[in-house]
Amino acid sequence: MEFRRISATERTATMYPLQSYAFLGSPSPEGDEAAYERRNGFFETAISIVAEEDGTALACGASLSMRQNVRGKVHDMAGIASVASHPSARRRGLVRGVLERLLRQARDEGATVSALYPFRPSFYARFGFVGIPRHRIAQFAPEGLSHLTRAVLPGAVERLTMRDGFDEWQGLQQRLLGERHGFAVFDETRAAEFREDKRWMAIARVDGEVVGAASYRVTAYGGELLASNLLTTDPVGRALLLQFFGRHVDQVARVRVRVSSDDVPELWGTDFSVTTEAKVDQPSHSGPMVRVLDMAALTGTAAGDGDVTIEIPDDDLVGGVWRLVGEGGRLTVTKGTGAPAATLSVGGFSALLYGVLDPVEVGLRGLGQVDKSATGPLTSIFPRQMPYICADF
Ligand SMILES: CC(C)(COP(=O)(O)OP(=O)(O)OC[C@H]1O[C@@H](n2cnc3c(N)ncnc32)[C@H](O)[C@@H]1OP(=O)(O)O)[C@@H](O)C(=O)NCCC(=O)NCCS
Repeated sequence: MEFRRISATERTATMYPLQSYAFLGSPSPEGDEAAYERRNGFFETAISIVAEEDGTALACGASLSMRQNVRGKVHDMAGIASVASHPSARRRGLVRGVLERLLRQARDEGATVSALYPFRPSFYARFGFVGIPRHRIAQFAPEGLSHLTRAVLPGAVERLTMRDGFDEWQGLQQRLLGERHGFAVFDETRAAEFREDKRWMAIARVDGEVVGAASYRVTAYGGELLASNLLTTDPVGRALLLQFFGRHVDQVARVRVRVSSDDVPELWGTDFSVTTEAKVDQPSHSGPMVRVLDMAALTGTAAGDGDVTIEIPDDDLVGGVWRLVGEGGRLTVTKGTGAPAATLSVGGFSALLYGVLDPVEVGLRGLGQVDKSATGPLTSIFPRQMPYICADF
């Protein structure tokens, strides 16, 4: 068995057969090799690794070059995707071999955190990943936004094609990357594919500054307006986009828009009927998972006060004893020397870092053992704060 990093152009011969069989209906015309080949250029900055036997690829995976904000610090992020193995080669540890090499290579090239969308979380938990919230879908009839239809707001929305709105949309994403915990973006090479998407782009501006954006499409006259993430910098941006969607009242029956776990659509209006749903159902509706790849890189993360020594056993990338000191609003991470007051799996530590579990929950979930003396400092250093990854991959 040979594990080999391949170039983007080699993806068609090696990864396409594995991916099309794993992720598309078959046998059917859905798998289109020529279309896959045309997309290879968007994966030039990705790390793609295959496991080969006698020259045939039996397992594959890729790490996309992305960036992510974790508690105020922007990291290079390994976005794991395209993981598949040949059915007759499954359960032989080939994907384990691919994933371990991918994470190591991504770390060597500067990625300090990683994220993915699992087909089954328990599989990726073996590799140190832990769950974070899935986006919500808010569904409502546009009549519910009638209070906004005639409102005079301090800005305007322009409807553009994706191609024309793409740069402003990307610009807003870069801004939110710097501001929003958990937010992740693709690099330019991977993002370029979306420029050709057949979607409208609603751009909200105040005095020329972009304060909101959402791509969307209309399914039919009398049908649905399906919008992607409601990206906004402030309540004015959100009100502008909602007003724009509400003005489709005589055109569509329903609006469906993606929102984060800390959005509360029922507060968007009085007498506003809305259903907000986060459907998690493997393998096709999964919540994202994350893990840390480099402990020293966490120095500088926004943190509360506290001083605690922890141990992460059995991990090639972040295993060891670490001293975590939160002081003056910032975290410092150094190699620890004293006795650890908590033993955490990578997933347990990542859950604290990303703000999704508190130290007691980490213990209850079997992700670590936290002495009473460590509960206070860990809670203080890593207060609960829900991340919103936004990107899909
Ligand atoms: C999921 C898939 C990639 C697993 O590949 P594989 O080659 O069988 O995986 P491995 O043999 O390397 O298994 C790695 C580890 O996960 C475990 N594992 C395998 N399948 C699992 C499952 N369904 N649930 C939980 N753990 C699982 C193995 O026991 C092994 O554990 P260990 O190394 O700690 O002993 C493969 O079944 C596949 O291609 N499925 C269809 C496509 C897909 O779902 N891809 C994932 C997209 S996110």
